[in-house]
Amino acid sequence: MKKSLLMAATLALGCIPLAYADDVARGEKLYNVYCVQCHGLSGHGDGVNVPALSVQPRNHHDTAEMTARSDEELFKAVKHGGKSINKSVLMPAWGGNLDDDDIHALVSHMRNLCCRNGE
Ligand code: HEC
Repeated sequence: MKKSLLMAATLALGCIPLAYADDVARGEKLYNVYCVQCHGLSGHGDGVNVPALSVQPRNHHDTAEMTARSDEELFKAVKHGGKSINKSVLMPAWGGNLDDDDIHALVSHMRNLCCRNGE
């Protein structure tokens, strides 16, 4: 009984990183299509549009800034645009192009770039 419980727990835990990895991979693909022009190929905030922007796109590797945001805030910023979290309107709203699953995947990708579990 004890042993089977332990096995169940191990199996359940084993699934979490796999599911997370799928989400990150999906988020990365979306990021490469929709976000790199401003946030840069590796998310350092150095995309080709930067010279045209009066506000710098977030460097998603910036530990201080990224740990200051909850996943919900990142989600909101992507879905409803920068203005929804009192950031610049230069961060567009993606709710019309991307569904909630896509946006959750993008949040996972950003957390994988920086600051997963407060790292
Ligand atoms: C047209 C350029 C542009 C594109 C394209 C863009 N962003 Fe942004 N983004 C910005 C700018 C500029 C900011 C900074 C806003 C500020 O600091 O006021 C920002 C901020 C953000 C923030 C808020 C970070 C914070 O510090 O609170 C998130 C999250 C974000 N972007 C994610 C994304 C994702 C994901 C995509 C692709 C779906 C994307 N952005 C596409 C320009 C862009």
